[in-house]
Amino acid sequence: MGKKNIVFVGILASSDSLEKLKINYGYIAIEQGKITKTGSIKEFERLAESGTFSGYQIIKLSANQFIIPGFVDCHTHAPQFPNIGLGLDRPLLEWLAKYTFPLEKRYKDTEFAAKVYDQVVQRLLRNGTTTACYFGSLHVDGTLELVKSAIKHHQRALIGKVSMNKENDAGYYNNTKQELADVETFVKSVISYQNELVEPVVTPRFAVSCDKELMDGLSEIANKYNSKIQSHISENLSEIEYVLQTNPDCKSYGDVYNKSQILNNRCIMAHAVHLTDEELTLLSAKGVSVAHCPASNTRLKSGLCPVRRIIDSNITVGLGTDVAGGDNASILDAIRRTMDVSTCLEMQGRPKYSLNWREAFYLATLGGAQALNLGDRIGNFDVGKDFDALLVDVYAKGSQIDQFAGALEKTDDEHAVELLEKFIFLGDDRNIVQVYVKGNLVKDTL
Ligand code: GUN
Ligand code: FE
Repeated sequence: MGKKNIVFVGILASSDSLEKLKINYGYIAIEQGKITKTGSIKEFERLAESGTFSGYQIIKLSANQFIIPGFVDCHTHAPQFPNIGLGLDRPLLEWLAKYTFPLEKRYKDTEFAAKVYDQVVQRLLRNGTTTACYFGSLHVDGTLELVKSAIKHHQRALIGKVSMNKENDAGYYNNTKQELADVETFVKSVISYQNELVEPVVTPRFAVSCDKELMDGLSEIANKYNSKIQSHISENLSEIEYVLQTNPDCKSYGDVYNKSQILNNRCIMAHAVHLTDEELTLLSAKGVSVAHCPASNTRLKSGLCPVRRIIDSNITVGLGTDVAGGDNASILDAIRRTMDVSTCLEMQGRPKYSLNWREAFYLATLGGAQALNLGDRIGNFDVGKDFDALLVDVYAKGSQIDQFAGALEKTDDEHAVELLEKFIFLGDDRNIVQVYVKGNLVKDTL
């Protein structure tokens, strides 16, 4: 583990935008965790000859390897990992009451929290998630264990202590005054670590669990510390009905959040499956980002989220695994489900709603970075950005991807595109042989 100066030479793939995937043979130089130069193989050879890279570790990729930006998970629940795969035959509100709240209550026990969170962080890094935006539990100390694990394993992380003040059967909520005090304690504690990779996020669970007084207070705290704010919106029809019933003065789900002033350009909302045109216009005008969570939207039968419609409304979108509503912690899975759900919508008669693999790859990298306001720091290989990246070996040992001699003759450029395409559709953590976060090597099975 360390921040050496490194040069990779070989295939580099990253997105400039939703429409533009860049794949080229070249080099990328990293100093002190930052990208300082990129260019062609010819330029590399010239610079290498003139001694520019003396003292650098030079990694020449094989013909079946490439470098891509690290994956960004814009929405996941760290305390729910022990429940992955359980109870997914129930709709959202029942699933929360029966499975989720009772499990999350256990994180009062900081020892239990530390044990689970250390595994969660390592599991995500192993799967190439270099940045994660996490919901913790209601507990300050338990959620600080997640902060410590992210710091220990060098993951870039946005972490929120979940806020809830409405009574529920599990007895999993806090009184308003105590909750606001706890959130401020949590935010201050995270800031006091002065870790460049980890930041606090104010986290009202959703309008079902928080009343207006709490959300107003949370909005003030987020503004005071200029922190991000995350929640859930319009995931499930019964949830929406309940929110509208309990907020009769609000004309929509989005309006409930807007009245508490939590919609702004530091705000990330998960799901957004059933938004009206008016709500899309509101979120876009306020600069809110959306975390698209296709796995849990399908598993909990919440709905097929029309991502293309959200993107076309000028809203920044990233991907979320949403464990344990989602049954898979890997962003590669989220990429595939994004393609599948959007394709289902198109097959049901919504022209042009499907997203192709290049677009889904953008959402998993630069799109996610932009959704978390980290687009100037990570997400692709622009000079000056931090080096958060994955070294992928398409034919790594044990890989699911069969080595194919190639039925057709391919140019080098066609070969490079096909390698990435194969990985997107068939790859898994075994193909991710190295993971870097800000130049720190955090996984190495090369
Ligand atoms: N809405 C409020 N809490 C949750 C949660 O934990 N998971 C999901 N999928 N939706 C929620
Ligand atoms: Fe969620």
